[in-house]
Amino acid sequence: MKDRRWFTVGGLAALLLSGLAVAAPPTAKRGSSQFVQTDGASFTVNGSKFRYVGTNAYWLPALNTDQDIWNTLGNISAVGAKVVRVWAFNDVATTPVNGTWFQSIQNGKVSINDGPNGLQKLDTVVQMAQQHGLYVMMTLTNNWYPSASNSTGSSLQARGGTTETALPRNYLSNDYGGMDLYVRQFGLQCHDQFYTDETILNAFQNFTSKIVSRYVNNPAIFSWELANDPRCDSTLPTSGSCTTETVTQWHATMAQYIRSIDPNHLISSGNQGYMCTDCPKLYPLNPAPAPQPSPAPGSKKRSVPVTTKQLLRELADFRRSNRRAAKLSGRLKEDGIRVRGRWAATATRRQQSSEVGPAYDGSYGVDSQDIMNIPDINFGTFQLFPDQDTYAPSDPSLSSYQNSVNSGLYWIRNQAQSADAVGKPLIMTAFGLVTQDNAADFVPFNMTTALYASDTSYGVTNQQQTDAYSTWLNTSVSLNLAGMIQYQWGQQNLTAEPGTVISPGTTGITLSSRATPANNDSSQNMSPNDGYNSRSNPDMSQVFNTTANATQNSS
Ligand SMILES: *[C@@H]1O[C@H](CO)[C@@H](O)[C@H](O)[C@H]1NC(C)=O
Ligand SMILES: *[C@@H]1O[C@H](CO)[C@@H](O)[C@H](O)[C@H]1NC(C)=O
Ligand SMILES: *[C@@H]1O[C@H](CO)[C@@H](O)[C@H](O)[C@H]1NC(C)=O
Ligand SMILES: *[C@@H]1O[C@H](CO)[C@@H](O)[C@H](O)[C@H]1NC(C)=O
Ligand SMILES: *[C@@H]1O[C@H](CO)[C@@H](O)[C@H](O)[C@H]1NC(C)=O
Ligand SMILES: *[C@@H]1O[C@H](CO)[C@@H](O)[C@H](O)[C@H]1NC(C)=O
Ligand SMILES: *[C@@H]1O[C@H](CO)[C@@H](O)[C@H](O)[C@H]1NC(C)=O
Ligand SMILES: *[C@@H]1O[C@H](CO)[C@@H](O)[C@H](O)[C@H]1NC(C)=O
Ligand SMILES: *[C@@H]1O[C@H](CO)[C@@H](O)[C@H](O)[C@H]1NC(C)=O
Ligand SMILES: *[C@@H]1O[C@H](CO)[C@@H](O)[C@H](O)[C@H]1NC(C)=O
Ligand SMILES: *[C@@H]1O[C@H](CO)[C@@H](O)[C@H](O)[C@H]1NC(C)=O
Repeated sequence: MKDRRWFTVGGLAALLLSGLAVAAPPTAKRGSSQFVQTDGASFTVNGSKFRYVGTNAYWLPALNTDQDIWNTLGNISAVGAKVVRVWAFNDVATTPVNGTWFQSIQNGKVSINDGPNGLQKLDTVVQMAQQHGLYVMMTLTNNWYPSASNSTGSSLQARGGTTETALPRNYLSNDYGGMDLYVRQFGLQCHDQFYTDETILNAFQNFTSKIVSRYVNNPAIFSWELANDPRCDSTLPTSGSCTTETVTQWHATMAQYIRSIDPNHLISSGNQGYMCTDCPKLYPLNPAPAPQPSPAPGSKKRSVPVTTKQLLRELADFRRSNRRAAKLSGRLKEDGIRVRGRWAATATRRQQSSEVGPAYDGSYGVDSQDIMNIPDINFGTFQLFPDQDTYAPSDPSLSSYQNSVNSGLYWIRNQAQSADAVGKPLIMTAFGLVTQDNAADFVPFNMTTALYASDTSYGVTNQQQTDAYSTWLNTSVSLNLAGMIQYQWGQQNLTAEPGTVISPGTTGITLSSRATPANNDSSQNMSPNDGYNSRSNPDMSQVFNTTANATQNSS
């Protein structure tokens, strides 16, 4: 992958420079449609601007009772959230005895379950969401799938190790089938064949068609999100020929396909927002710098740096002000760098610069701006997970917490500038910071193991999480993001049934040597927790409500 590391600060500046170009018009339809539409960098519903906070609850269709779905959506709505992001896929290779599944793919043979433990569950979620005044962002597949100890493709069998087998099926976000299940069950070997193999494309389009046509006239759908975290790598190996163009082309093909059967709803990517300034573009921005259009009355203009020099200066200022703040508060530490809760050796210059690579150099095969600029893609998406990705050089004089907050701000700002260049709305589709209470449950999106189950030093305090979220959200509001979706909702007192996502005795991870009555998910019939469950932070509803108020006041 080394040869695809093209990141340079100059390259980033070039990206930001391209913000001066006028983008192709988005597929906005003005008017007063009750379907969510775009108008420049905003969403509209019934002719009014629509900005929102939302949350992720991929597991909603996997709950055991309608009452649980109803209560959860009611609680989500009560904090002021307007959009809930849900997995509209649930693929299996072997039909499970109990619990929800939508599609079975076994040795290339596909069947879709539209029974009561199939798509009717999704119907219930959509219907109840609408009754609670919520929109549903529907994700159509996942990049991830639990790593396989062998290639049978069954998620239960695929789990390796002793700790993970304690988890019920559908407990983790990556345990709902997805790209690698298609690849395995169609007899192929490489992850990226999902994007290129004609038969798989046909199968995925069949599934997509089934879902999309089911809700084509339903205004409660916010958007069709093509995939969670699409990229070249996953649990199966990559072929070596996957590039940003492969992934962008797949988006274009799929978006056009959906548009051909659904004229009503928005279409989005679901990628993590990785940038690649120097990658070849399938959908280049207009290269000729044109005069800036005058902003519509009342609309905020995001600032766009114009030269490499200016960007370098900004980076330097960023570091300087960090150091100043650290000095003032007595946090300046010259002797080392705090990496993810641990003290490590002093960072060298090389370590610092190499840290910025993958999110900006195309090595994941994702060029979020090229994807955003596809005509049938209606808005940009990105995610913010400082526990899993590095978005900015870390400042050795600051705590890892402060570096996480700062890198998040830097990432949000870069994303806003990139979306400005394209001229489409921008959504942060998932963001989270792992707390001490959640650390024992934290499973990175590409893994099935709770890495820090017994590491009592990992994670931030609830107060730090509150402050970080508040800081990121305030900045997102002021940079005119159109939506901010927290990861992930936590719901207690759900109904347990054997062999389902909420199973008696196995509800939640009991890996933690630190489980207390307050954070022992097993004793509380708690919704799934990948390490970001909001249940343990009592201030979270306040953060939601403050931001919900702010989006309303500013729209
Ligand atoms: C938009 O208008 C429709 C019908 O006029 C109504 O049912 C719906 O609740 C409205 N949506 C919003 C978000 O105001
Ligand atoms: C929130 O969920 C609880 C069950 O945990 C339920 O009793 C309550 O009615 C819900 N609140 C709303 C506003 O729906
Ligand atoms: C915030 O909460 C208050 C009640 O606590 C509620 O009246 C208000 O509608 C909420 N804000 C939004 C935007 O939902
Ligand atoms: C794969 O797992 C299944 C189910 O546990 C088992 O029956 C099969 O023998 C395994 N195959 C290999 C090659 O290990
Ligand atoms: C897709 O659906 C068509 C029509 O039902 C069917 O002929 C085709 O075999 C399906 N493709 C796959 C890969 O299952
Ligand atoms: C998960 O992602 C991280 C960061 O990209 C990487 O270092 C790690 O090897 C990945 N793990 C797996 C199992 O793919
Ligand atoms: C975010 O903005 C709200 C007011 O809109 C304010 O109360 C809160 O303190 C701000 N948070 C941070 C961390 O600046
Ligand atoms: C869960 O149920 C217990 C016991 O019925 C109750 O005390 C608690 O308040 C409930 N929690 C929530 C969040 O509904
Ligand atoms: C499925 O549910 C039934 C009835 O609740 C239960 O007896 C059985 O053990 C469950 N099967 C599995 C594999 O969990
Ligand atoms: C967590 O709850 C489960 C189920 O009630 C119980 O068996 C277990 O002992 C509890 N663990 C701790 C550490 O409290
Ligand atoms: C949000 O606004 C409502 C009134 O519109 C108010 O009652 C509530 O206190 C506000 N919430 C916060 C957290 O500022």
